Amino acid sequence: MKVGVIGAGNMGSAFARRLGAAGHEVSIASRDLEDARNVAATVGGAVRAVPQQELADGVEVVIAATYFPSQVDALRASGRLDGKIVVEISNPLKPDMSGLAVGFTTSAAEEIARAIPGAKLVKAFNTVFAQVLADPAPAGAAAVQVFYAGDDEDAKRTVRALIESMGFEPVDAGPLGNARLLEPLGMLNIYLGYAAKMGTDVAFAVRKVSGEATGASAEQGARQGARSRDRESQPRAD
Ligand SMILES: NC(=O)c1ccc[n+]([C@@H]2O[C@H](COP(=O)([O-])OP(=O)(O)OC[C@H]3O[C@@H](n4cnc5c(N)ncnc54)[C@H](OP(=O)(O)O)[C@@H]3O)[C@@H](O)[C@H]2O)c1
Repeated sequence: MKVGVIGAGNMGSAFARRLGAAGHEVSIASRDLEDARNVAATVGGAVRAVPQQELADGVEVVIAATYFPSQVDALRASGRLDGKIVVEISNPLKPDMSGLAVGFTTSAAEEIARAIPGAKLVKAFNTVFAQVLADPAPAGAAAVQVFYAGDDEDAKRTVRALIESMGFEPVDAGPLGNARLLEPLGMLNIYLGYAAKMGTDVAFAVRKVSGEATGASAEQGARQGARSRDRESQPRAD
């Protein structure tokens, strides 16, 4: 898949590394082309730096790896986004990181979707630390789960495939409005990683406690629900 990454910081460089390793064709841009060039030179794979105004040219997915206050400007400066899938990863923190700057009645993702109406916006990766994003899980460890939410089912299918291709387990978190739930979860992740000193190598996991397959995705959940209903509708011997 051809993927564009905006931002050459912690998350942008981690995306470039993982996407390149997964065999995707990655373009990366930042305010300063030299920063993007440095990332492209260090991460390996098919990653190339491009001027920001050319980023969206020919790519199917654009990942916005800048901070929430910069997201709209960064996206608007990255070429034509009409019809493109935009993956929005921000945690809209207050400047002193004491909490979220938006939430409850809206979310960063919904605000950005309103500002860039031609794009198909999918919220994802905001609960994954850059350290976790950059490197594959160690051999034998369970795949890290990546929650994704959006209103365009085709865009969600593509993002899901992208998540899987990078070695993560996608978890369908519903419509874009559920970014209101994912962003506080991102804030909790930051609290656990930093304030609670658990470190930035932690990640959330949704597991079926019954021991069945995770059922983490809506599709799997629906299949399991159907199986349970079938079981319940079977005539019982007792
Ligand atoms: N770090 C994490 O573990 C983590 C985890 C989950 C989600 N996130 C989210 O990921 C996003 C990026 O975080 P980060 O830690 O990667 O930040 P970062 O290291 O500060 O990187 C941000 C990058 O965006 C670039 N940028 C800023 N404004 C831009 C614009 N208008 N156009 C193009 N590029 C621009 C910056 O360039 P300059 O150097 O020129 O400013 C920098 O390269 C944030 O929204 C954050 O909430 C981060």
